[in-house]
Amino acid sequence: MDIEDELQATIAEMVQPGKGILAADESLPTITKRFKPIGAESTEETRRAYRSLLFSTPKIGEFISGVILFEETLGQRADDGTLLSEVLSRQHIVPGIKVDKGKIPLARAPGDEITQGLDGLAERLRVYKGQGARFAKWREVYAISARNPSRLGIDANAEMLARYAAVCQEEGFVPIVEPEVLIDGDHSLERCLEVTEAVLHAVFHALYRHRVILEYMVLKPSMVLPGKLHPSQATPEQVAAATVKVLRRTVPAAVPSINFLSGGLSPMEATANLNAMNALFPRLPWELSFSYGRALQQPVLQAWAGRVENRPAAQQALYRRARLNGLACHGKYRP
Ligand code: 13P
Repeated sequence: MDIEDELQATIAEMVQPGKGILAADESLPTITKRFKPIGAESTEETRRAYRSLLFSTPKIGEFISGVILFEETLGQRADDGTLLSEVLSRQHIVPGIKVDKGKIPLARAPGDEITQGLDGLAERLRVYKGQGARFAKWREVYAISARNPSRLGIDANAEMLARYAAVCQEEGFVPIVEPEVLIDGDHSLERCLEVTEAVLHAVFHALYRHRVILEYMVLKPSMVLPGKLHPSQATPEQVAAATVKVLRRTVPAAVPSINFLSGGLSPMEATANLNAMNALFPRLPWELSFSYGRALQQPVLQAWAGRVENRPAAQQALYRRARLNGLACHGKYRP
């Protein structure tokens, strides 16, 4: 298969109405942080047990078209010896891989950060492809303050996302491009709108310069929200209106799908906001879907609590949350 056919086949499986992506790509420190409140120790074996529970949830492929994995998971097997990437493929779910190596402070730009991991990326992707991965994810992070993100921060981060996406497409991987404007702080919804617009504008300008084929990528943005510490919180309708306004101004219609991150929203908020966008704006040029980590997994972790006997209850919790987000993709979720 030539590369464009390969990218076309992958994007067609990833982007299906009423389906979204499960982000299960927590790094070792992050999964340890998620396991702690439920009293589970993070070991290679508990991480394997938890992720194989997620991926073998009966019929989860009805609402999930792709799963983002952490490198360790790609080499792990279910209890019966099946590779976890194969467990996903059997459920008609595309396995993907987080390829960035986390963030460091951006030099000469106090308060801004930059993500590492471009060196050797093409070679790593070839290994991951042999292990079954067909798409990739890279996250850049933007904190909001009075002077952040700076012009330098916005441009440098956009450049990283575009260089990553271009390498992915050359290797036959669909890139998920994830610029996350953080929810931390006391900024207003208007300030988040202004920052998100500048960020996405720079990202698409860089993608264009690096000749990324927009038809074969997925955008994974944050929603436009007031900061967590802002005195007045926004309704799903206000979040929907502000988010769609920014997306319309910045994201070309050639992009097939926009799959939001949940970024610290509760599972119910994440579903309600996505639902409001699809209910209020039914005729947008892109699919509006989800690529949630915490908003899908929080109820699952609580139900599981690290115990094998809770596996069916945990799988039911995942199925339920995925089904509700599937409804939100059609604007048909009723709380
Ligand atoms: P959250 O939905 O928990 O923000 O995770 C999504 C993700 O992939 C972060 O990189």
